[in-house]
Amino acid sequence: MQRPSEIASAGGKLGVLMPGMGAVATTTIAGTMLARRGLGEPVGSLTQNATIRLGKRTDERTPRIRDFVPLAGLDQLVFGGWDIFPDNALEAAKHARVLEDRHLEPIKSELEAVVPMKGVFYPEYVKRLHGTHVKTGATKAEMVEQLREDIRRFMKDNGCDRAVAVWCGSTEIYFPPSDVHASIQTFEEGLLANDPGISNSQLYAWACLKEGVPYANGAPNLSVDFPAAQELARERCVPIAGKDFKTGQTLMKTIIAPGLKARMLGIEGWFSTNILGNRDGEVLEDPDSFKSKEVSKLGVLDYVLQPDKHPKLYGNLYHVVRINYYPPRGDAKEGWDNIDLFGWLGYPMQLKLDFLCRDSILAAPIVLDLALLLDLASRAKLSGIQEWLSFYFKSPMTAPSLYPEHDLFIQLMKLKNTLRWMMGEGVITHLGHEYYD
Ligand SMILES: NC(=O)c1ccc[n+]([C@@H]2O[C@H](COP(=O)([O-])OP(=O)(O)OC[C@H]3O[C@@H](n4cnc5c(N)ncnc54)[C@H](O)[C@@H]3O)[C@@H](O)[C@H]2O)c1
Repeated sequence: MQRPSEIASAGGKLGVLMPGMGAVATTTIAGTMLARRGLGEPVGSLTQNATIRLGKRTDERTPRIRDFVPLAGLDQLVFGGWDIFPDNALEAAKHARVLEDRHLEPIKSELEAVVPMKGVFYPEYVKRLHGTHVKTGATKAEMVEQLREDIRRFMKDNGCDRAVAVWCGSTEIYFPPSDVHASIQTFEEGLLANDPGISNSQLYAWACLKEGVPYANGAPNLSVDFPAAQELARERCVPIAGKDFKTGQTLMKTIIAPGLKARMLGIEGWFSTNILGNRDGEVLEDPDSFKSKEVSKLGVLDYVLQPDKHPKLYGNLYHVVRINYYPPRGDAKEGWDNIDLFGWLGYPMQLKLDFLCRDSILAAPIVLDLALLLDLASRAKLSGIQEWLSFYFKSPMTAPSLYPEHDLFIQLMKLKNTLRWMMGEGVITHLGHEYYD
C-alpha cells in the first residue's frame, strides 16, 4: 500500500450516521454535544485525549493526536441515523437510562432535533424486536435505494460535505457468509431476489458503500465482513472497519491475557460471565443473536495465546463465555472472570476479576474515534479493510490470509504507527539502539 501523497482538508461538516439509535448511539451523541459546549469531558477517546510520540525519545515531540493528524473537530459533526422505533435522541437516551437528567437537560432541544429516519427491518434477523418505524419495499434492492436516498437527503438538508456511518444497531442472528456474499454481482442479484442470506445491517452497509460513505460495524454480525462488501469498498475507494466494539470484558481480556502470555504463565481455564439489563441484553437472550456474540468473544484468547505454539501452557484451555439478561442492572453491566492459571512446575493460581462497568460509557468514545478516524482514512484515500483500527474491535477484520491481532498494546502501536506513516513521520519500533551508540 502506498503512503497517502496528500490528505484532503478536514474542513466542512461531517455527517455521522448511525443505523440503530439506542443506548450506544445516544450516549455518543449526547456526550459529543456536552463536550463541545465544555459541559463534559470525552474521557476514553484517543482522538480527543491521547498524545503521540514523534521521532526520538530525546526530541520531546509529543503532540496530541488531534493536533498531529487533520481530524474533523467536534463542532463540525452533525448526527443522524435510522431506527425501527420513532423516538428522537432525547427520548431514546431516556429510555436507555445511561445518562442522568443533569447531562440530558442542558442539551435537551439539540437532542430532540435528532430524529431517526425509518429503518429497514426484516424481523427474522433480530427476533426479540418488533419495530414500527420501518420502510416498506418489494425487494431488498429497493430498500438499499431508499437508504441511499436518505443519505443524500440528510447530507443536503444538513449541508454536510462528507459522511461516515457506524452500525450501532442490535446484534443480528449468527450466520456465516454464503454464495450470495461472494462478489458484487452475486450480492446485487441476491438483493433483487430477496435472498434470505442478506441481513438488515448488510443493506445499510451496501447503501453506504454505494454512496461512498465509510462504514464501521460495532456489532458482531457480518454487516460489512464479507467478500462482496470488501470488493465494493475497494472499487469505490471507501474505508471499512469492524467488528464488535471492544468495551467491557473483552477489553479486559485483551489487556490481561497478553500480560500472562508475556510472562509465559500457563492458563487452564477462563470462565467469563456477564449480567446486563439493557435492550442489547434483551436481544442477546435470543440464542441465535447470542451465537454471533459468542463467536466474537471466544476467538480472542486463541489468537492472543497461540495454543498451537505453546501446547503445554495453553493447549487444554477451557474457555467459556456467558451473558445473562438481568433487567435491574440496566446498562451497568457486571462482568466476572475467573482465570485458572499455573506457574513454575505447574503450581495452580487463580485470578478473579469483577468489572462493574458501564457498557455505553465505554462504547461511546469508540464510536466517536471510529467516525473521526474513518473520515481521516477516507480523505487520505485509504480503501477497504482498515486493520489499524483493530484496537477498537473484539473481532477485527483482516485480509483473508491474515489472522487478527488481538493484543491491545500491539493494536495501539499499529494504530499510532499508521498515523505516523500517513503523515510522513518515521514509525517507532522501540529498538532504541541509537541512544547507546
Ligand atoms: N455497549 C457496548 O459495550 C457494546 C459493545 C460491543 C458491541 N455493542 C453492540 O452495539 C450495538 C448497540 O448496542 P446498544 O446497547 O446501543 O443497543 P440498543 O438495543 O440500545 O440499541 C440498538 C438499536 O438498534 C435498533 N435497531 C435494531 N435493528 C435495526 C435496524 N434494522 N435498523 C435500524 N435500527 C435498528 C434498535 O431499535 C435499538 O434502538 C449492539 O449490537 C451491541 O451488541 C455494544
